[in-house]
Amino acid sequence: MLTVEETNYLCRVGPGTPMGNLMRRYWTPVLLSKELPEPDGAPLRSRILGEDLVAYRDTNGVVGLIDNFCPHRRASMFFGRNEECGLRCVYHGWKFDAQGNCVDMPSEPAESNFKDKVKITAYPVKEAGGLIWAYMGPAEFEPPMYGFEYLSLNPNQVSVSKLRYESNYVQVIEGDLDTVHASLLHSRLSDLENSATATTLGGKYQFPDRAPKFHVEDTEAGILIGARRAAEADSYYWRISRWLFPYFTMIPREPHGITQGGMMVPIDDENCWFIHVRWNHLAPLEENQRFENNFDHNIIPDGTWLAKANRRNDYLIDREDQKNNTYTGIAFVRAQDSAMTDGMGTIADRSKEHLATTDMGIIRMRRRLIKAARELEEGIEPSAASNPDSFAVRSGGCVLPRDVYFTDDAEVWDDIHVK
Ligand code: FES
Ligand SMILES: [Fe+2]
Repeated sequence: MLTVEETNYLCRVGPGTPMGNLMRRYWTPVLLSKELPEPDGAPLRSRILGEDLVAYRDTNGVVGLIDNFCPHRRASMFFGRNEECGLRCVYHGWKFDAQGNCVDMPSEPAESNFKDKVKITAYPVKEAGGLIWAYMGPAEFEPPMYGFEYLSLNPNQVSVSKLRYESNYVQVIEGDLDTVHASLLHSRLSDLENSATATTLGGKYQFPDRAPKFHVEDTEAGILIGARRAAEADSYYWRISRWLFPYFTMIPREPHGITQGGMMVPIDDENCWFIHVRWNHLAPLEENQRFENNFDHNIIPDGTWLAKANRRNDYLIDREDQKNNTYTGIAFVRAQDSAMTDGMGTIADRSKEHLATTDMGIIRMRRRLIKAARELEEGIEPSAASNPDSFAVRSGGCVLPRDVYFTDDAEVWDDIHVK
């Protein structure tokens, strides 16, 4: 449970808010690289952390991320002309490069040096892992790039996609940390019956025991969660997941298989991107593991990145299917999640919740975020931001003898850390 004040402190990320300041100490994934496919192509609107921005790829392929509002009279740069290494406002022709310098001002006398005095807000940008990342904090605190494993793999080992959730980023993170819901919300009515013949650890052990015991460990960059279920008479099945500052998750995985990460990037206080990444550190992804082949058809192709099953159509719930086939009657897994998180209201009222034993990861994540934001208010910089290696980790999954704790097994430890 959180008070209304604590909830606001945790959830509000606009410019000048304590949590917004903390987020701005980290690199922020803003767009998929493929959204800006070509030099001098159409600019894109990008609202991030409550700021209205415009992104464009210039003539040299460099991405600029600038304020949406022209510093002259505040026209939208979205309508601008993307040409000759800069974005030109079409109202009076003022042109800005990717660093925010005004490089042309045709509406002023040729002898004027006014253009040298005008800048537009422009954030440093990097491209890596199929994503465009921006640093939106004070220049003197710009951190190194995260040490996420997928940022240095061959592109054929990595797939990224995204969708838009219509709720605050924290409750979407909470949804990914609450791994117990997978064996209920995402289940089929036949899963328990089929578990005897299942070929994956999750399929075999997740459904017979729907009340796992949660164990939470702090790491420098976040938390490590082990959800322990009964496996055989002498063993436990551990589902191992992570949350990393400020909004990264990694959901449990089968041993040696692909890892799946989420990035719940706030658009503003009431909407967030769910950018997800899948990577196989050992081999190329199979075609059916790539989002463009098995996920993206669920998204409305109009630039909103809303799922076809969304709040406006009750996530296309099918009550017959719910009676006979699936737990929810909602077909698309991520729509099952967003029906839950968006359905809480845009910012869930934590003063009325009743947290239970499976919510330990959620409680710890909230505490870590609030503590880090409070420390930053006192002048203590977040240590994880300057330690890329603390992000060089994976989630996991394993079956261990009952007397072995999940972080004590050397093979498991190796499997959830990148060397
Ligand atoms: S408002 Fe952009 S150039 Fe005048
Ligand atoms: Fe889920």
